[in-house]
Amino acid sequence: MYSPEIIDTIWRKIDEKLCRTAVRSADKLPYTAVDGVHDNKAETDITWWTNGFWPALMWLMYLGTGRGVYRAVAEKAELLLDGAFLKYDGLHHDVGFMWHISSGVNYRLFGGEKSRLRTLYAADILAARFNPMGRFIRSWNDDRVGWVIIDSMMNIPLLYWAEKEHGDPRYGYVARLHADTVLRSHIRDDGSVSHIVSLSPSDGSYIESFGGQGYGVGSSWSRGQAWAIYGFALSYIHTGDERYLAAARRVADYFISCVEKTGYVARADFRAPAEPDIIDSTASAIAACGLLELGEEKYRRAAIETVLALEKYCDFSPETDALLTMGAEAYHGRRGLPVIYGDFFYAEAIYKLRGGKFLFW
Ligand code: GLY
Repeated sequence: MYSPEIIDTIWRKIDEKLCRTAVRSADKLPYTAVDGVHDNKAETDITWWTNGFWPALMWLMYLGTGRGVYRAVAEKAELLLDGAFLKYDGLHHDVGFMWHISSGVNYRLFGGEKSRLRTLYAADILAARFNPMGRFIRSWNDDRVGWVIIDSMMNIPLLYWAEKEHGDPRYGYVARLHADTVLRSHIRDDGSVSHIVSLSPSDGSYIESFGGQGYGVGSSWSRGQAWAIYGFALSYIHTGDERYLAAARRVADYFISCVEKTGYVARADFRAPAEPDIIDSTASAIAACGLLELGEEKYRRAAIETVLALEKYCDFSPETDALLTMGAEAYHGRRGLPVIYGDFFYAEAIYKLRGGKFLFW
């Protein structure tokens, strides 16, 4: 049963845990945890796409509590992340995940020039990946020149920000043209979403789709559905274009019809066989954040059901590092593990339900 007090209690438990984790992991960029201890991508893979989520989580906790420790750890992580700029070959389209929610948040809160430059540099890297004939931002660096992944919708808010910051509409044009292409090529008539679509690099026409991190071709990878809900909601917020809101709502209706059957905890793929029953807590957490931006009571209710259902997958112990258990990297990948974006989006959903107004994206 929902009440604001329950949400406050969850937030308090998150804070009691993370203020201890923050100290233990102050020199890390965590991705997952092994035996309760965060790993460290700063040592093993500085360009890893999730490396912005740890500072983002620290900024979220700073905003929600005012505790200086969170700000200090977020700023430390931002410096660690600078190592990624020195590895040109390793950078990719996920620079929004890496800098918009780390240095980008620092700049929007405190206005530091170095944080601004880091974030603008990331925006230039993303904008430079745009294919003007295909009208899309390429997702991969290798010979997959026309492949576009639904996750990209979460990176383009970096461009909406750069458009305003520079006063240069080119960044916004790139973001909107990309969003229009994804709207046309990835969202199916029933509101489900392809994870990866191959488009012609010369004219953007549809070639084929791939199962990606889902079960297979034509399936419905739940985290991809969640990226679409939140990603299109964000494009609507930044542009006011009602088509993006309609798309986000269409995918949300499909998502809700799937998770209603499983107590609001998403299976890793909504079109996979009944067995094995693989869940992905991170898909639910991301979807909850998107649902809260869709402006209708039914979506807010679904978001609340989701965060309450996920509570039983949270590890609130201050002795262990990760928060949300039972993530799945991919349907055919590692399962049953915590991943840093699961922690971030779960905390972000609670932050929003408590009335937090700062939009990270
Ligand atoms: N492709 C990024 C993800 O795992 O969501």
